[in-house]
Amino acid sequence: MNKLWAGRTSGVTDSVADDFNSSIRFDCRLYREDIAGSMAHAAMLGERGIITNAEADALINGLQGILDDLDDGTLAFDWKAEDVHMFVEQVLTERLGEVGKKLHTARSRNDQVALDMRLHLRHESDGIAAQVRDLIAVIVRVAEQNKTAIMPGYTHLQRAQPILFSHHILAYAMMLLRDLGRLEDCRKRIDVSPIGACALAGTTYDTDRQFEARMLGFAAVAQNSIDAVSDRDFCVELLSALSLLMMHLSRLSEELILWTSWEFRFVTLSDAFTTGSSIMPQKKNSDMAELVRGKTGRVYGDLMALLTMLKGLPLAYDKDMQEDKEAVFDALDTVKMCLNVFAPMLRGMTVHADTMHKAAQTGFINATDLADYLVRKGLPFRSAYKISGKLVSECIQSGCVLETLPLATYRQYSTLIEDDVYAAIDLRRCVESRISEGGTSPDSVDKQIAYIKEQIK
Ligand code: ARG
Repeated sequence: MNKLWAGRTSGVTDSVADDFNSSIRFDCRLYREDIAGSMAHAAMLGERGIITNAEADALINGLQGILDDLDDGTLAFDWKAEDVHMFVEQVLTERLGEVGKKLHTARSRNDQVALDMRLHLRHESDGIAAQVRDLIAVIVRVAEQNKTAIMPGYTHLQRAQPILFSHHILAYAMMLLRDLGRLEDCRKRIDVSPIGACALAGTTYDTDRQFEARMLGFAAVAQNSIDAVSDRDFCVELLSALSLLMMHLSRLSEELILWTSWEFRFVTLSDAFTTGSSIMPQKKNSDMAELVRGKTGRVYGDLMALLTMLKGLPLAYDKDMQEDKEAVFDALDTVKMCLNVFAPMLRGMTVHADTMHKAAQTGFINATDLADYLVRKGLPFRSAYKISGKLVSECIQSGCVLETLPLATYRQYSTLIEDDVYAAIDLRRCVESRISEGGTSPDSVDKQIAYIKEQIK
C-alpha cells in the first residue's frame, strides 16, 4: 500500500520498519470510534463551507458504507496498513475517488487518535461501571440471603470478634461503590473533546470544534490544542481506578480461596465455577478466584507501562504514545473478563452458616465482650481487659471455653461476675449489641443494605 504521507520522503519503507511501526493489529478495535469521529468531522467541514455540503454527504455516506462493511465482515482489515486511521482513509479514497482526499482537511492523526481513545474509554468505562453495579447487587443479595449467619471476624488472620457474615461481605460492596465513584469521576475527564486540535497547534481553517463535540456527545471541548494531543492522563486515571477495582476483587478472591478450603469450609462454590485436578480425584479448586487474584498483577502492570511510557515525553505527540493502546485494551479486557465470571460465581455460592458458627465458638472471640461486661459492672476498661485475658488463659489450661467456664471459677478472678455473664458473652448477643453506627448489628446491616441499594439504583 502506498503511504498516504509519501512526499517529503519516497514513502518506501523497509518491511521490518513497517511491521514495527504498524498499530493496526490492535488499534483496529477503534474503527467504530474512528469512523464516528470522521463523520462528525466531515459534517463540520460541510457546515463551515470548508468543503461543499455535497462533498460532506459523500464522505459521510462513504464512511457509513465502510462501517457497515466492517461490521458485517464484507470488508477485511488490511494488516499491512499503518494504523486504523490510515486504513479507513485509504479505503474511503479508493471507494470515492478525489473527494475522499478531502476528509483529512483541518485534522491530524494526533487529534484523531486522542478522540478515538476518549470515545472508546467513555463507552468501555460505562460498560464496566454497569458490570460493577451488577456485582454489587449480587453481593447485596448474598448478604440478604445469609443475613443472620455468624462468623469469626479476623485480624492478622486470627479469630478476633464475632461478626455477621452479611456485614463482612457488605464491606466489599462498599469498596465497589467507591470503585464505581472513581469510574464516574474519571469519566468526566474522559468526556472532553480533543478533535480540532489538529497536529498540535490548531488550524488555519474556520472550524467549529463545539459542533463536532456536540455531534459526538462530549460534555466539553479541550481548551489547549497541545494538551489535547499530548496527554493520556485519562488513560492512566482509568487504569488506576481499574487497578483499585482489581485489588478489591483480588482480596475477595483470596478470602473465597481460604473459605472454600477444608480448613475453613465456610462456603462452597458451585461446580460450574470450580475445576478438578488431573491426578487427585477429590479436588475441587477455586480456579476462577485464583485467576482473578493472578490477573490483578496484569492490570497493575498495564498501569505501570502507561505511567512509564509517558514520564519522559516532550510535548506534543510522540510515537511512544502508540504504546498506550495495548496496555489500556489489555486492562479493559482483563477487568471485563474478571467481572464477568465473578458475579455468577458469587451468585452460585453456598454459605455454610453452621461451619462458620462452629468456628466462631472457638478462639475466644467473645473475650472483648467479657471485658465490656466487666466495664458495665464498674471496672475501668484496662483492668477489665486484664481479667478477661486471664480468664482466657484459665480456659486454655483447663480445656474449656468462656461459655462453659463455671461461675465459681469466674468469681475467683472477679466477684463482680454474676450469672448474667453467660448471656453477655453469647455469640448472637455479642453481635446484636454492636449497635454503634456501621457496626455488625443486624440493624446496621439492614441500613447498609438500604444505602447500597439506593446508590446502585
Ligand atoms: N497509530 C498512532 C497512535 O496510535 C496514530 C497517531 C499517529 N500520529 C503520528 N503523528 N504519527 O498513536
